[in-house]
Amino acid sequence: MSATRIDGKVFAATLRTRIAEGVAAMADRGITPGLAVVLVGEDPASQVYVRSKGKMTREVGMNSYEHRLPDDTSQGDLLALVDQLNKDPSVNGILVQLPLPRHIDEEAVINEILPEKDVDGFTVLNVGRLATGQKAMVPCTPLGCLMMLRDQLGDLSGKNAVVVGRSNIVGKPMAQLLLRDSATVTIAHSRTQDLPGLCRSADILVAAVGRPHFVKGDWIKPGATVIDVGINRTDDGLVGDVDYAEAEQVAGAITPVPGGVGPMTIACLLANTLTATARANG
Ligand code: GUN
Repeated sequence: MSATRIDGKVFAATLRTRIAEGVAAMADRGITPGLAVVLVGEDPASQVYVRSKGKMTREVGMNSYEHRLPDDTSQGDLLALVDQLNKDPSVNGILVQLPLPRHIDEEAVINEILPEKDVDGFTVLNVGRLATGQKAMVPCTPLGCLMMLRDQLGDLSGKNAVVVGRSNIVGKPMAQLLLRDSATVTIAHSRTQDLPGLCRSADILVAAVGRPHFVKGDWIKPGATVIDVGINRTDDGLVGDVDYAEAEQVAGAITPVPGGVGPMTIACLLANTLTATARANG
C-alpha cells in the first residue's frame, strides 16, 4: 500500500486564491491589507523566507512593507520600529523574522507587537488566548497543518495525536489546536521513553523536531496520517523529519518535503493578515 501524498502546494494555492478574493472584496470598500515584515541581519535562510513572503503578499493584492535592518541594530531601535508599525493604520500585520541576533531579547521584541497585529500568533496574549479557548491569532505553521488534517480526516474528535517536538512556534500550538478539535494529544520530546512505541499509537503523527529522517517507517501505525514539519538542509537537498520512502509504505496519508507544510505556512500568514484587517475594520 502506498500512502496518499498530501499536496501542500496545491492546497496553499487554493487557499491563496480564496484570500485574493477576500482582498478584492475589501478593495471595493477602499481597504488594502498591509503586512510589515522585519528582518534583522543577513541570515541566508531568513532572507529567502522574507523575499518569498513579500512576493506572495503582493500576489494576493496586499501591500508588503519590508524593513531590513543591519545585524548590529540595537534592541531600542528595533522596539521603536515595532512601535511605529503598531501605530501605522496601513499596517494590519507585523512579522519580525526569527531568529534575531543574540544581543536582542526576542521575547521583548515579539511582545511589543500589538496582539491584534501579531499575525505570527507569538505574543503571550495570543498564546494564552489559544490555550484558554479564546479568539486568538494562531501560529501559521500549525494552522496550516490543522487545515490539511481536517481536509484529510474530517472530524479529528477522539483521534490519538502525537506531536513530536515541543517548540513554541510549532509543537505547543499544534497540540493546542488538536486539543481544541477534541483529539487526544501527547507531546513527545527528546526525553520521551519508547518514542517509536508512542508514535505507533498515533492516528495523527506530527513531526517537528528538526532532525533529518528521524521518524522511521516502523514507528508509524498502518493507515495513520503523517504531517512532516521538518525542513532540513542536507547534502541530498531538503529533507523532512520523516523518512518518507519508508513512511509512505505504511501511512494512510503523508505530507512530502518540500511541497507539504512549507507552502501552507506563508498562505496561513496571509490568511491571518486578512483576518487581522477584517477585525480592524469591523
Ligand atoms: N522563523 C522561522 N519560522 C518563522 C515564523 O513562522 N515566523 C517568524 N517570525 N520567524 C520564523
